[in-house]
Amino acid sequence: MPNYYQQCIAPDCGAEFDLDARLYVCSRCGGLLDIERREAIDSASLRDLWRQRRTSLDPRDRSGVWRFREFLPFTEETEIVSLGEGNTPLYNAPRSADYCRLPQLNLKHQGCNPTGSFKDTGMTAAVTQARKLGARLVVCASTGNTAASLAAYAARSDLLCAIIVPSGQVSHAKLAQALDYGAKVLEVDGNFDTCMNLIRELAEDESVYLVNSINPFRIEGQKTVAFELAEQLEWRVPDHLVVPGGNLGNSSAFGKGFRDLVACGLIDRQPKITVIQAEGAAPFARFYSDHAHESFVNEEHPQTLASAIKIGAPVSWQKAWRAVRETGGSVVTVTEQEIADAKAVIGRDGIGCEPASATTVAGIRRLVDARVIKGNETVVAVLTGHVLKDTDYVMKYHSDELVGPDGERIVGNFGNSPIRVAVSQDLQDLQDILKIL
Ligand code: F0G
Repeated sequence: MPNYYQQCIAPDCGAEFDLDARLYVCSRCGGLLDIERREAIDSASLRDLWRQRRTSLDPRDRSGVWRFREFLPFTEETEIVSLGEGNTPLYNAPRSADYCRLPQLNLKHQGCNPTGSFKDTGMTAAVTQARKLGARLVVCASTGNTAASLAAYAARSDLLCAIIVPSGQVSHAKLAQALDYGAKVLEVDGNFDTCMNLIRELAEDESVYLVNSINPFRIEGQKTVAFELAEQLEWRVPDHLVVPGGNLGNSSAFGKGFRDLVACGLIDRQPKITVIQAEGAAPFARFYSDHAHESFVNEEHPQTLASAIKIGAPVSWQKAWRAVRETGGSVVTVTEQEIADAKAVIGRDGIGCEPASATTVAGIRRLVDARVIKGNETVVAVLTGHVLKDTDYVMKYHSDELVGPDGERIVGNFGNSPIRVAVSQDLQDLQDILKIL
């Protein structure tokens, strides 16, 4: 498919590579790779076509990723590996809006994907490419969600799968998924960054294919969330799009998606892309607030209870920085207490999410306070993982037993602990409990 190629994003390099070159970074300078197109896309009838596909029974049309395949680097003949990903709801969340002191707030719930996180929208593209390349084994390093997602897509495509995770730092739910889907799980003494370094070395082997978000095909799949969101908003993009930041693939993907949409005239501007990090794992936020922006300094010992984003050396920071810079967004941090409270508030909207996702609502509250987000502006926060991904955290918060990474007690300001009822309890007592609810 000559139309698409891979290109190094480093401005002083820009090296180009064939689409099927098995690369993760530029072989000339080590820069990150983008997938680009030589010819512009004629977008005239695409909105109608995409809408029509919603009623089709073709598996590609049922997927919220492949429905937008005109913008994906595959041919019509490609055999796709899909679990019917995407098509996630955009919720109006009045309690969360109130908490942020905004008249309205929309939450795009990527936790409603087949394996419960946003990773599926990228994984369908990356595993499709793995199969196309004839890989034997697909691998990733992970804080849990990438692992669960890859394990599922590998199982669907009969590829062998191995994942490397930091021992004792991944929630049981995510680990359980990976095991159930049949992946080989390697637990390493160290943090996510240790795992990432290790997997990059292992992926030097030709028969192994690495699908962390450093892989540009992952980003191509994930960018379609921007398309789906724009469509849900009738092609009027919000003023602000707010995402959590860990390895920084998600923010990079939104940047790429909105850039593609502007380039072909489907939208007239990009939203400001803002990234929120947990205070103890915030190398990107530090880079952002260091006005010289000279060098990126990794966080040696990242710490947060939001284990999904406990990352100190994000591989995609240059792409995320491009997205933030080009759109005029910002990068801020939030505390463990703020994350925990915001998570509970999102729960009260009947939605729920995992801790990392709640950084968004906590961050928006801060940005409204600081008047970076104005009351009359439209805001979408991206929830990246399902509430059931980390139930230990939820139970501890509601029982007032959550302890932060520095041993600090986290108060269950919106706590809702279970009430113990004895079998012998007087009916009158129980009725009284229900009356004061
Ligand atoms: N939210 C959740 C629930 C995540 O699992 C992750 C990353 C992020 C946010 C951050 O997104 O890395 O694209 O900036 N999880 C990865 C994993 C690292 O291995 O599952 P990012």
